[in-house]
Amino acid sequence: MAKHFAGLDIGTTKIACIIAEHDTDGGTKVIGRGVAPSHGLRKGVVVNIDKTVQGIRSAVREAEMIAGVDTSEVYVGIAGEHVQSFNKSGVVAVKSDGGEITEEDVRRAIDNASAVPNLKDRETISIVPQDYIVDDQIGIKDPIGMSGVRLETNVHIITCGTTSVQNICKSVEKAGFVVADVVLEPVASSKSVLEQDEREIGVALIDIGGGTTDIAIYLDDSLRDTRVIGLGGEYVTKDIAIGIRTPIDKAEEIKKKYGCADPRVVQTGEDFPVPGVGGREERQVSREILTSIIEPRVEEILNYAYREIQQSGYNDMLGAGIVLTGGGSLLEGIQSVAERVFEHPVKIGYPQNFTGLIDVAKSPIHATGIGLCMHGMEIENVPEKGRGGLEVDGIKDLWVKIKEVFQKYF
Ligand SMILES: Nc1ncnc2c1ncn2[C@@H]1O[C@H](COP(=O)(O)OP(=O)(O)OP(=O)(O)O)[C@@H](O)[C@H]1O
Ligand SMILES: [Mg+2]
Repeated sequence: MAKHFAGLDIGTTKIACIIAEHDTDGGTKVIGRGVAPSHGLRKGVVVNIDKTVQGIRSAVREAEMIAGVDTSEVYVGIAGEHVQSFNKSGVVAVKSDGGEITEEDVRRAIDNASAVPNLKDRETISIVPQDYIVDDQIGIKDPIGMSGVRLETNVHIITCGTTSVQNICKSVEKAGFVVADVVLEPVASSKSVLEQDEREIGVALIDIGGGTTDIAIYLDDSLRDTRVIGLGGEYVTKDIAIGIRTPIDKAEEIKKKYGCADPRVVQTGEDFPVPGVGGREERQVSREILTSIIEPRVEEILNYAYREIQQSGYNDMLGAGIVLTGGGSLLEGIQSVAERVFEHPVKIGYPQNFTGLIDVAKSPIHATGIGLCMHGMEIENVPEKGRGGLEVDGIKDLWVKIKEVFQKYF
């Protein structure tokens, strides 16, 4: 039977499991999807292990049933305000006599760049090489075999709060699964949503979830920056609940059915019913009022994202503009509001380049889950030591993983 890959997206509002396998062309074929409500997370962070375990079990079980396979290993996403990331560089002298750069030189350069102080409460989850400088030649993607005496590399390092990683891993383990890898959620989403040419000319992917809004910035086909903001669609729902006096679950339904972020697309006289609370009668509320509640909150979230992108220093280099994904990107009118905020072209990013269960999986809500499977497929067969992508053609994100964190817990 073909090897399958399970992506587990432990989100603030839903836990989703996607199971995929290689299709006949070596691409990604989604064969299973399971979704369970998430009651154990706040702002992307596990606050109740038991509820998270239940959600994980039920999402994976559903996906397994649909796929007709049993899963033991899962690729897991992580987000939350505890995430910190930064760029670093490292330099080494090329060792071989002939001055030809070897895999070993590359590994030493990456090790040198990744030498960060071992802080007790932080774990490094990813070290992503961006590019290399051989003597004076900059922007080299694969230096192996080139001649030179000095090899420098730039890497993007992602670290998480130790307890946050532990609680994610513990929840997965208690549910009966093994963590194959932990991936920052916007990085996973980028894999399923972004096109290679977008990553080349510069793009910011913004995944608007329920509790977090996550950003990944790419330029020259390399990951340049990642950010997590502790705000998302749940805040919009809460504002609606308060603004039109209705319970949260009804506000959520109303947001999805009638919600709009852009007042310019809402007509006067478009009313919708709001169920009465505590025996009161149903009321009619206009979409104009609903939009006046939604717009400022959406603008606020996008403004936070804009500030983060500006701080990254890449705002003027985003040739492909902004791609919005995650459930929050499904809100009507969000694209035009985002274009106003970012002053960049904005598109809604759907997961793509996969076959199989397209109908159920082709939603921005599943960008992370599908991206996690794609990540698993990318690093498949890459020997542990070679997870610099050095021994595999076609892997663009030269992933080097620090495995200590998992060895500690499993
Ligand atoms: N059709 C829709 N219109 C508006 N908002 C929507 C729609 N569908 C989903 N959402 C919103 O998207 C959010 C959930 O998105 P998503 O599933 O990506 O989040 P999550 O992964 O659970 O959370 P996070 O990534 O923050 O941990 C919710 O706030 C939900 O209200
Ligand atoms: Mg999410």
